[in-house]
Amino acid sequence: MNFKCVKKFDGKFEKYVLISTNIDATIPNHFTEVVKATLTQLIKKEDFSSEKCKKIEMNTLDGDKVINVTFLYLGNPAKLNAKNIRENLYTGLKGITGEVMIIPLDEKSDNVDAIAEIIEHINYKFDKYLSEKKKEFLKVHYLTNKKLPKLIEGYELGKISNIVKDMINEPAEFMTPHMLAKTAEKLGKDYGFEVEILDEKMAAKLGMHSYLSVARAAHHRPYVIVMRYFGNPESEYKYGLVGKGLTYDTGGLSLKPTTGMVGMKEDMGGAATMIGAMCSIAKMQLKKNVTCVVAACENSIGPNAYRPGDIVNTMNGKTVEVTNTDAEGRLTLIDALTYIIRKEKVDEVIDAATLTGAILVALGEDVTGVFSNDNEAAKKLIAASDNWNEYFWQMPMFDGFKRYLKSDIADMQNTGSRFGGSVNAAKFLEEFVEGKKWIHLDIAGTVFANGGNPYYEKGPTGQVFKTIYSYIKA
Ligand code: BES
Ligand code: MN
Ligand code: ZN
Repeated sequence: MNFKCVKKFDGKFEKYVLISTNIDATIPNHFTEVVKATLTQLIKKEDFSSEKCKKIEMNTLDGDKVINVTFLYLGNPAKLNAKNIRENLYTGLKGITGEVMIIPLDEKSDNVDAIAEIIEHINYKFDKYLSEKKKEFLKVHYLTNKKLPKLIEGYELGKISNIVKDMINEPAEFMTPHMLAKTAEKLGKDYGFEVEILDEKMAAKLGMHSYLSVARAAHHRPYVIVMRYFGNPESEYKYGLVGKGLTYDTGGLSLKPTTGMVGMKEDMGGAATMIGAMCSIAKMQLKKNVTCVVAACENSIGPNAYRPGDIVNTMNGKTVEVTNTDAEGRLTLIDALTYIIRKEKVDEVIDAATLTGAILVALGEDVTGVFSNDNEAAKKLIAASDNWNEYFWQMPMFDGFKRYLKSDIADMQNTGSRFGGSVNAAKFLEEFVEGKKWIHLDIAGTVFANGGNPYYEKGPTGQVFKTIYSYIKA
């Protein structure tokens, strides 16, 4: 554990971070007069008028040993919220390593419940495949007498976030559908939910032919992963979660160019997100009933590949003309949706999917697209994101978009127009939710950071599942 709350000042440390929302804060008496005077003078010299967060660092003599003291001004307290507190703590603490004592100097900064979560976020590393392992890490002793109610929740979700990042970071040759199923099984044991795995024979018996067509050409065979958590036996109400689990997306015969293909191990980001949601719901023992389904497979090419022009049967019964084999996510999701609605009998469904490149065009890299047949549910989910450093935006679902999905020879086609591509994909999914309350999250932009975001380093972000957790908890 890299985070510990301590009630007493311990002078044995070499590094201290003083967190404040007040530039006139008094330096505590734990330090010698020399340390206090030096730091006070340094703070006086600084310009805080920008009201942004600021960091002042010094090495100084404390008695007979050199200590490192950082004064972290979190920013104007009137402007702090759950999002920028995280960002400021992250940028402020990032780069500090070793054992550190953190001392809040005022009320507002003594309430930074997010700090345990952030320490996990800062300490994340994926060095499994590096010959030289990364060594730096941050271990924090937090000096406080207060009970910080959200501290444990943040810590646990921070840890789970790192598990989600690991799953996405693994190359497709390791994180195959089978390995994804095994990982879910292990997490089910660790966190307390049951896991059932269906192989392709069972999926075929259920009629999941749309999903199985996508899976057909790959060497790594498909598995449907079903996870169940019953936290409230007194209630009949069941939440359903569905995650897109493409362990790799070549595009199929509508092959992607190399530049578009290189990141496609992350196409199981929706699955990782929903597995993360299951872990947090079970860990925090929410009094809710939640079932999660991932129809995992790889979209590959080969003599047995499904083709543009094929017509596939779905578990729902509708037929779909495949006009582009790269619009494969929706073909897997519709069977997962039918399965979770008909077999698991859930009352509402949320799906998370790296579904369209078009969502990056529409909303950029930092915002998840929200699509729903229920505006109240969409608003509730977006409100739940206020707890975290996550951004969501609702997209239109006008029925006019349905015309793009018409096919001359099947009930519908899978691609639609390039214009409004993310909405077309959502409208396609909507055809399979059987009127159930449903929210679709297009996370193609937010699953992976490409550098430049102040809170998410280059790599998987491990976000979105926290908002889903808060939505279900509320
Ligand atoms: N997995 C991709 C979407 C994607 C793109 C995820 C970029 C992450 C980053 C999805 O399967 C896909 O290929 N979508 C196509 C749909 C099109 C063929 C209608 C796309 O976005 O181009
Ligand atoms: Mn694709
Ligand atoms: Zn895909």
